[in-house]
Amino acid sequence: MDNKYAFKVTAAGRVNIIGEHIDYCGGKVFPAALSLKNTVYVRPNGTDKINIEWTTLPDKATLDINDLEKGKALKYGNYQAMSALMWGKAGHKVIGCDMLHDCTVPFGSGLSSSAAIEVSTIAALATVAGESFEPRDVALIAQKAERALGVNCGIMDQYASACGKAGYAMLLDCSDVTCEYVPIRTGDYSIVIINCNKPHNLVESKYNERRAETEKALEILKTKLDIECLAQVGERDFELYEHLLEGKIHDRAKHVVSECARVARAEAAMNAGDMRLLGRLLNESHASLRNLFEVTGKELDALAAAAQSHPDCAGSRMTGAGFGGCTISLVKRGAVEDFKKYVCEKYTRATGYNAVCYDAEIADGITVEKL
Ligand code: GLA
Repeated sequence: MDNKYAFKVTAAGRVNIIGEHIDYCGGKVFPAALSLKNTVYVRPNGTDKINIEWTTLPDKATLDINDLEKGKALKYGNYQAMSALMWGKAGHKVIGCDMLHDCTVPFGSGLSSSAAIEVSTIAALATVAGESFEPRDVALIAQKAERALGVNCGIMDQYASACGKAGYAMLLDCSDVTCEYVPIRTGDYSIVIINCNKPHNLVESKYNERRAETEKALEILKTKLDIECLAQVGERDFELYEHLLEGKIHDRAKHVVSECARVARAEAAMNAGDMRLLGRLLNESHASLRNLFEVTGKELDALAAAAQSHPDCAGSRMTGAGFGGCTISLVKRGAVEDFKKYVCEKYTRATGYNAVCYDAEIADGITVEKL
């Protein structure tokens, strides 16, 4: 990379500790930003084009700032195009610039590489145009970019990517997009992230289908309860009215209601430094995502089961949308290397895939540096 860029702007990937498939149901989720991130080196170029290059891809893309819609069809550059389009639509200035993207969030890992790209692109566009911004606003526009590309996502990923803080998890209330920072106090346990490395496909359509199922459940429960979102249904009320929900719709709603309760307990466990309890909650969350929400699949199940069977693991579950991607596990510090080896070997024997372990810290969301 030459050093003629004007700014270095980064946004984070994220891991969700607990609260899965809850954001679009209006509940609280518990993610944290990661040191795996997307970095954008950017400089103004005085034209009406955004030129994009990557450190890790041979491709180059050029976006026309007067016709950003066209960039939607690009294999690489589509997230940048939709981010610029939505930022402009929200009334902000988009100027011609050269961008070099350097992404250390593995694509398709369930650690939100797309959110990191969207958020860093918008922050870079604002910075290069001399505009100051609120990370929360950037997150909300970045979510629109993701939706423009076909995933009817919630706000968790973009919010964590933009607003994360080193050393803290975010208890994010998705009903009004406000967050409380909770110090990560895992005592003598480490957070370990492992990718099942199964190529995932159809994620978008299955994700949107799950979301629609939760909306169906909400519609039915609204006939009995004064609620605006599914996350408002308490466990008691659910018991009273669950008979109104049939089959899969019932199961999806049951996951949401129980997962919301687990998030509250997980926050308390984190504050109390009770890693045994937090671990148990992770295990319960995985079981619910497997049996009721059905978003795990045999690889994630095998990976979580291998992790859960290690004596120094307090708990493990899939993180993110599912259908592939990563698990998050709580592991005794001194045992991490042994754990990784044990889990990877067991997983490969069970599935034939090679898992990949990441070394990541809990890091900041957007950062901007003048070069
Ligand atoms: C994806 C979406 C998020 C969230 C998770 C599941 O990562 O982008 O909004 O719904 O799945 O918790």
